[in-house]
Amino acid sequence: MTVTTEADGEKAGAPNPDRMLLARERILGFTARGVFHEDDARAERLARAMADRAGLTRENDTIGRLLKSALGKTLDAESADFHLDEFETSRDGVPAGIADLVHPMSPRDFFERQYDQRRPMLFRGPPDRFSALMDWDDVNEIIHARNLKPPQLKLWSDGQAFPVTDLFSRAYGLGSRKLQPADERIDGHRLTRYLQNGATLIVDSIGTIHEPIKTLIAAIEASLGTHATANLYVSYRRQRGFSTHWDSHDVYVLQVRGSKDWRLFGEMRRAPTESDVAANMLPPARPIWSGTLNSGDLLFIPRGWWHDACVPEERDGEGSIHLTAQLQQYTGRDVLTWLAAKLAARSELFRINVPMYAGPEAAEAYREALTSLVEEAWRQFTVKDFVDDMRTAWSEDTRLHLDKRVDPWTRPDWDAHRIVVCGTKQATLQAGPDASSFRLTANGFTCEFDSRCKPLVIAMLGGVSVGDLKRLDPERFPATFIDRFLVSLLVADTVRTAPPESA
Ligand SMILES: [Fe+2]
Repeated sequence: MTVTTEADGEKAGAPNPDRMLLARERILGFTARGVFHEDDARAERLARAMADRAGLTRENDTIGRLLKSALGKTLDAESADFHLDEFETSRDGVPAGIADLVHPMSPRDFFERQYDQRRPMLFRGPPDRFSALMDWDDVNEIIHARNLKPPQLKLWSDGQAFPVTDLFSRAYGLGSRKLQPADERIDGHRLTRYLQNGATLIVDSIGTIHEPIKTLIAAIEASLGTHATANLYVSYRRQRGFSTHWDSHDVYVLQVRGSKDWRLFGEMRRAPTESDVAANMLPPARPIWSGTLNSGDLLFIPRGWWHDACVPEERDGEGSIHLTAQLQQYTGRDVLTWLAAKLAARSELFRINVPMYAGPEAAEAYREALTSLVEEAWRQFTVKDFVDDMRTAWSEDTRLHLDKRVDPWTRPDWDAHRIVVCGTKQATLQAGPDASSFRLTANGFTCEFDSRCKPLVIAMLGGVSVGDLKRLDPERFPATFIDRFLVSLLVADTVRTAPPESA
């Protein structure tokens, strides 16, 4: 989106504040998140029902072997061949990011190993390692006081989803007062009965409503420059919530309270993704690993690995809370999309119509030109460039201050407001296309500025009050200039303000 395009007509030394921000463009980013959709579950139930009817369920092993020989691929690893890598960590306290989750490995060692060979890993930790993330009071408060609704709130048992709308009361008080849908309250007695009878309660994207998990997810996103999310699972009984399945995203299982038995059945196929998945149908008959996660333990399950979980028999009736943190992975498909967007932005050839009906000569000329363009782009490609762009495409939540004025520059205490560039964790400054401009990349945008305002932008990157900004170089940047410049940045959502503490 171009905010202002021209900076001409200005006298040197008297910049126009409205024209200091030359342009602002959204960076190509990826927001799709891998989730286990209900559609997948429906497809799986249907497939199971069909397999049952055909008497195939007990024959999975045979079918697997037949497929294996037909496709020449390993579908069912032998348990004797499999060894789960297990690590011990003494780290406790609130986990602050990916480094705390994979400790004692360093994140680099962890990801290097995952690149070589994608395998599950188990990290045993002290029982209270994750306890600050969620306790039972938090669960009660989240369900009741937040009045969660589907699709964020789910109930599953043995691979079946319950219609959660049944849980909501449509009347209360004297019994005849009907509630509007938004007023409907979750019926605690009914929910408790479902859980007592073996259902698993699931709250998707728990980080959006629970601060300690939000902080952890934000730290993971900031350190890796990728999207992450976390779901909450609460169960008491032996029944599994989901049946044996695999996911199209990597999963970090954090056992927060209680215990859970987990089983791994091997890899469906290497690194399936959301967009090219096969049906999630028939798991291998036998697990290749099973074990108990106790509070403080973390199990990493790469995408594509069959798995399931249930409360251990000896702890039936005791509550278990676990979280799954899911990280979005970038794949070759993303690299190509990114490269295509870059080529389209800078090359007319990449934007013109494919000469489908213009005759063989035009078709050949187009093919040759396009091939050399793409080959040149590939020659220049580096993973680092891709990572840099993905990191800078990362954008932060916008923290609201709706108790304050939405136009803070009209307030008498405006000069005491603090100005912060949005998304500074990933911000970079680069030279512009010529010496008269520079680029700030942050919060999913690239902003091109007139180079004369560089001292102001650098000051804002570190966080600065409006008053201090006005005192930076009053001769060059008088107070009225600063005000207009900041308003243009606020309107473009490039900076945000924090009101004074006392306001
Ligand atoms: Fe899963």
